[in-house]
Amino acid sequence: MNGHQSKLIYLLGFMGSGKSSVGALLAEELGWPFIDLDMTIEAGQGASIREIFERAGESFFRQLEQAALVEASRKEPAIIALGGGTFVQKVNFDFIRGRGGITIWLDGPLEELWQRCATMDNRPLFQDRESFAQLYAQRLVYYRQAKFRVSTEGRHPQEIVREILRWKLV
Ligand code: S3P
Repeated sequence: MNGHQSKLIYLLGFMGSGKSSVGALLAEELGWPFIDLDMTIEAGQGASIREIFERAGESFFRQLEQAALVEASRKEPAIIALGGGTFVQKVNFDFIRGRGGITIWLDGPLEELWQRCATMDNRPLFQDRESFAQLYAQRLVYYRQAKFRVSTEGRHPQEIVREILRWKLV
């Protein structure tokens, strides 16, 4: 395991960075289970992320997110795709550190993230360019603390997965 403590790989990064698609492919390649935090939350609530935000607010969503993170981290090995804001919450950041997880930041340029998000309507924090850019700038300081970083710029998920596999993390 190259000195890593746990067989938990957390994919993090801003909205539209490809955490879900890269995670699913990586899990398939490794033969590990894949858990998408947002999908788990939606299934548990029987509601979309947008509906949860609208009905109960962001702070309730963050509670669900934290509980989903703890639950998803119970069994190893696993590939866990976080939401764009998960790693930014101190409680989650500390939990992941404590759990000894392998953190990988999917780092892509703002314009590309914006374009990818524009094709989907289930992101309540995707509003206008200004707030999107502001949130991105605020979060970089957290994302940069991931143990590993992979560039997603102009790349297909398969190519990103190939690079991650070349690192031989597990
Ligand atoms: C959020 C990102 C979303 C989802 C929720 C909040 C965020 O996940 O968890 O809308 O705070 O950036 P994606 O990064 O998968 O879009």
